[in-house]
Amino acid sequence: MSLRIGLFYPNAPSIHVMSRTIAAMNPDFLSLEVHKEIGQTCEQLGLDYLFLADGWAGYEEQRDKPSRGMLMAPVLASALMAVTERIGLITTIHTSWFHPLQITRIGAAMAMLSRGRWGINVVSGSGFTDHLLGQAMAETSHDARYDRAAECMEIVMQAWRTGRIDNHGEFFDIEGYAPGPVIPEEFWPLIVSAGASDAGRAFAGKFADFIFMPGRTPQNLLDERVNDIRKIATTHNRQGADVKLQMHASIIVRETQAEADLAIQRVRDSVDMDAALGYLKSVRKNVSTYDDIYREMGELQVREIGMVSGARSIHGDVAEAVAQFEALHDMGCDGVAMTFPIWSPKEIRRFGELVLPELEKRGIWQPAWQREGGW
Ligand SMILES: Cc1cc2nc3c(=O)[nH]c(=O)nc-3n(C[C@H](O)[C@H](O)[C@H](O)COP(=O)(O)O)c2cc1C
Repeated sequence: MSLRIGLFYPNAPSIHVMSRTIAAMNPDFLSLEVHKEIGQTCEQLGLDYLFLADGWAGYEEQRDKPSRGMLMAPVLASALMAVTERIGLITTIHTSWFHPLQITRIGAAMAMLSRGRWGINVVSGSGFTDHLLGQAMAETSHDARYDRAAECMEIVMQAWRTGRIDNHGEFFDIEGYAPGPVIPEEFWPLIVSAGASDAGRAFAGKFADFIFMPGRTPQNLLDERVNDIRKIATTHNRQGADVKLQMHASIIVRETQAEADLAIQRVRDSVDMDAALGYLKSVRKNVSTYDDIYREMGELQVREIGMVSGARSIHGDVAEAVAQFEALHDMGCDGVAMTFPIWSPKEIRRFGELVLPELEKRGIWQPAWQREGGW
């Protein structure tokens, strides 16, 4: 199958790179003109989708300082929808931030106005804002948030399908006609999730069409998680193959290795080590002090994480990039969400012109417009 390749969208100054220097080198993320050019560039290259994460701020920010923020995914996606015609728009929505009726309305509008180009990435947690959401969030356990997310999706899908909600569950008691419009089958949203825990896999097996996994996940763990999710899918009247795997990769590609080395080095040298350690600390809560992490990982490894967070590094010349995409394809991956440390339209176009034709020649990718359409 042809890989589905999309852009992990830059809705913040820095996406996945923990560096204020890199953030300052990137285009203005508050400029609509910039987003218009990025959306149109991706569409012209034949990419399949723009994936908009959501959270508190870009990766270079620190919680104890004012943040420049991250543009809210469905809001930015509706602007992108108006300047593109074909490309898919996947927006993250936290089920702990919104009541299901609001998700119903956002989704119905996105699905109808985009004429079936919209997908929802369901995140059960709060996107690193737990500390701001207060007591109610603090008291909802990790697994209970997934239960709430599942109940929320049942309600939302019922509303999208039938225009009515009859739900008397653990979290919501709702009965009556839902806010429309009803979404017809041909515009039905793609459902995405990126959970990896037991509860996250149970959620994905029940609902997800696309599952995102961090690009650094080793093959054995990847196989274990994906097989588990596909097995769970079969217990919900779905086929295992209905669940498509997308991996997350960071892209720095140049024509020659020497040019690539320079670009890679520039990003590596500008990683803000405090931000990288803070990130590691937040994702690895069992490691309590920075010192422990240093001892365990060493500076070079921390820098590497600071460059890409959980993404797989596709950093090098064209031959290296092509080999990495082939490796992902051979690993059973159905697609790749690409994050660019330097996310200017020029950088994205350069990747498209250098690498995509090579992937096409090898038969592992084709421009979205050459396929029948759909995800
Ligand atoms: C590619 C990818 C994209 C993600 N996007 C978001 C996001 O936009 N916002 C967010 O709060 N979490 C995001 N996550 C985090 C996951 O949704 C999930 O919370 C995390 O992987 C932990 O899952 P678990 O609690 O089931 O282990 C993303 C994860 C991956 C791998």
